[in-house]
Amino acid sequence: MTDRSDSAALLENGADARPVGRRDFVGLLAASGVAAVGARLPAAEWLRAVGARGATAPDSRIEILLGEPIGTIAPEIYGHFIEHLGGVIYDGVWVGEDSSIPNVRGVRQALIDALKPIGPAVMRWPGGCFADWYDWRDGVGPRGERPRRTNTWAESREIRDLGNIPQRFDPNAFGTNEFIRFCRAIGAQPYLASNVRTLPASVFHQWIEYCNSPAGSTTWADVRGQDGECEPFGVRFWGVGNESWGCGGNFTPEEYASEFRRYSTWAVPNNGIPLAFIGSGPSGGDMDWSRRFFRALRERNAVNSMWGWALHHYCSAGGEAIKYSDTDWYDLLASANRMESLITDHWQVMREVDREHRVKLVVDEWGAWHKMTTNVEPQHLFGQQSTMRDALVAGLTLDTFNRHADKVAMANLAQLINCIHSLFLADGPKFVKTPSYHVFAMHASHQGGQGVRTVVSAPTVHWTGAQNAAHSLWGLNGSASLKERSLILTVTNSHLTEPRETEIAVRGGKIRSVVATVLTAHSIHDVNTFEQPDVVAPTTASVRASSGALVYTFPAASVTKLEIMLSG
Ligand code: AHR
Repeated sequence: MTDRSDSAALLENGADARPVGRRDFVGLLAASGVAAVGARLPAAEWLRAVGARGATAPDSRIEILLGEPIGTIAPEIYGHFIEHLGGVIYDGVWVGEDSSIPNVRGVRQALIDALKPIGPAVMRWPGGCFADWYDWRDGVGPRGERPRRTNTWAESREIRDLGNIPQRFDPNAFGTNEFIRFCRAIGAQPYLASNVRTLPASVFHQWIEYCNSPAGSTTWADVRGQDGECEPFGVRFWGVGNESWGCGGNFTPEEYASEFRRYSTWAVPNNGIPLAFIGSGPSGGDMDWSRRFFRALRERNAVNSMWGWALHHYCSAGGEAIKYSDTDWYDLLASANRMESLITDHWQVMREVDREHRVKLVVDEWGAWHKMTTNVEPQHLFGQQSTMRDALVAGLTLDTFNRHADKVAMANLAQLINCIHSLFLADGPKFVKTPSYHVFAMHASHQGGQGVRTVVSAPTVHWTGAQNAAHSLWGLNGSASLKERSLILTVTNSHLTEPRETEIAVRGGKIRSVVATVLTAHSIHDVNTFEQPDVVAPTTASVRASSGALVYTFPAASVTKLEIMLSG
């Protein structure tokens, strides 16, 4: 699994990257910083080791080029997704107003409190596949009078014998108003996904009217007022379908282009809000879906009505959420790392039609999807625990989005709570943050920053996968952004056992002070549980940097944030 050869992997962060020669760094370095300490350490012990100097020269380099901006990192890249699926809504987000569990108008208080500090810029709802059957009219009006409907996921093997539970027969207690109030409570913009599979465009337009038409102006605005919400919601983001190549209707790209046009063009009521329509894009590397859809949309003269093109990418590997081998670890990270080429490849294909790149990428479902063995409750379909492996997936992926700030306008982790790659697990009154939550908290400082090109050079990680195939992965991965004099550098070290002593140079700026926040664990299989919620938690400490030069050692199997203050 290890390769200490000199063949450094060059990670090109941003456009037109060029290799960084070792001599570029030598002149910048003075004795300073943090040493390699050998084995994997939990964050607290790691930071105690800060200050000891390594015996060997750094084997890795990071060069941050302040003069080469990529684009503003859209806060919406740090978005989330909730679906009426398993324990996400019922038991996760929604506990009900009469619950003994602390809540704000029915929404779990602990969830609101935990989300607010990490800036969840946007929240997607109600699905996913659930959206492809959902009639929004079921979820408005007096809660006690709303219909119960069979959930899309009701017949899933894991839950079909569990009786009349809300996960199978949805009581519609959580509808548009409840969702909007949740978004307001956490400071997120709502992103509503419409049903293109079983409802006509007129019902979609009525939903827009319900949400956005001024008080007293339309019948739907009156209904909203009767629901206690006189003022319009001002919803900007609208998904036109979901996975229209699959659960969203099994359309061909050409058929879906026609649907997209019918839903999004000609007199859609906007009430002064710049509506942003998001098309149902490809699954992973399905270039044919992107290419044929864009061509068909051009033929229908409707490219201008689209704001975002939604890519879905779930990574997976052998093993289970907690039990996995070293090979499974690397396989999962490599699968997550595909995000890099998915973004660049689809971007190229989009350009064949959209030469100016008016349409941006929206990765509205991403995350690590494991075999279902660790859900907290049987009804929590796809519920899974989360370890440092998932935290690394989160760090790798968010860094990838940052590096493509010019292309990615929004992204939504699937899914927020009790599900696939969740930030939280909950069960009745119990609630816990997973390691991935901490990654989002660490990366939150990138939101709204200017992404700057960052060149990372580190020894490649090699391993042998199934059928004895040789694989490799960049040793270090990262991204940087600048807000005034505050430079944020986030880095993942994928290697299971080797720390990476790294020379860090800031081109065009002088380092004044550095604070490091590190997330790592005693064992890569450690998890946070209701009983022991802080087994995997980050630690923060300041780092010594002298004469503007910084040497920092990234622990094995870690996610790190360096907050670098630059001089005047
Ligand atoms: O996130 C779970 C499911 O994965 C979503 O409902 C669907 O869009 C995707 O296939």
